[in-house]
Amino acid sequence: MSPDLAKPLLQIDRLVKRFGGFVALDGVSFHVMPGEILGLVGPNGSGKTTCINVISGLYKPNGGEVRFQGRSVGGLASHRLVHLGINRTFQVPKPFLPLTVRENVEVAAAYGRPAEGPSDIEAILASVELDGLGNKTAAELNSVQQKMLDLARALATGPRLLCVDELAAGLNPVELDRVAIRLRDLARGGMALLVVEHLMGFIDQVTDRVIVLNAGREIFEGVLAEAVRDPQVVEVFLGAAHVG
Ligand SMILES: Nc1ncnc2c1ncn2[C@@H]1O[C@H](COP(=O)(O)OP(=O)(O)OP(=O)(O)O)[C@@H](O)[C@H]1O
Ligand SMILES: [Mg+2]
Repeated sequence: MSPDLAKPLLQIDRLVKRFGGFVALDGVSFHVMPGEILGLVGPNGSGKTTCINVISGLYKPNGGEVRFQGRSVGGLASHRLVHLGINRTFQVPKPFLPLTVRENVEVAAAYGRPAEGPSDIEAILASVELDGLGNKTAAELNSVQQKMLDLARALATGPRLLCVDELAAGLNPVELDRVAIRLRDLARGGMALLVVEHLMGFIDQVTDRVIVLNAGREIFEGVLAEAVRDPQVVEVFLGAAHVG
């Protein structure tokens, strides 16, 4: 059944995540539509990665709800979420270093698409510009190539919602442009994306809308052009810049 394009693919509602007494997510609510790229921005430690970790099943929420295609999925294990169509990349990728690039993607495809046809591994590698590197081990890749491999691994599972965590960090301007185009292509094909990024130029280029987090709370929702004029957002970012 094709997803209903008029309804949110992902809806999170008053999401709470605590680590001991520390509240990393303090009632965060937002949605992502099919084919939409939502940016998730905020200073270091504001809860962006934690949000992805909860949505992708790495952490169980302590409160609130995660709904995917209308179904409550909060707290489900990662592999079940991958099978439902949620996958993510990691801020610090951890590929299987001794395996080849191709094997890394094959493992992800086998794990993530048990009921579907085989992924076209070569096409996925080409789409992230790793064609020609399929026989190299992941250990031989540089950090940008490892990020692209992480993206390839996620794509091999056929996600409907893809969460990307600081994929753009460390890329040069040409690589940034290519990745931005690739993400837009994925969204044009109907995939929903949640993009965490510090590089505002990249966020501006790829997102339809942004959520700004500060200390585990949402302080802004809307387009980036308005976010940069919002006094609370400006204060949070200037404050962070002064501290950093
Ligand atoms: N597993 C954990 N155990 C304890 N505290 C954690 C854990 N994961 C995250 N935190 C804390 O939760 C807060 C939010 O962290 P998170 O990694 O989500 O921030 P972020 O917005 O992704 O930051 P950055 O931009 O630096 O990646 C931080 O204070 C962090 O130290
Ligand atoms: Mg992070």
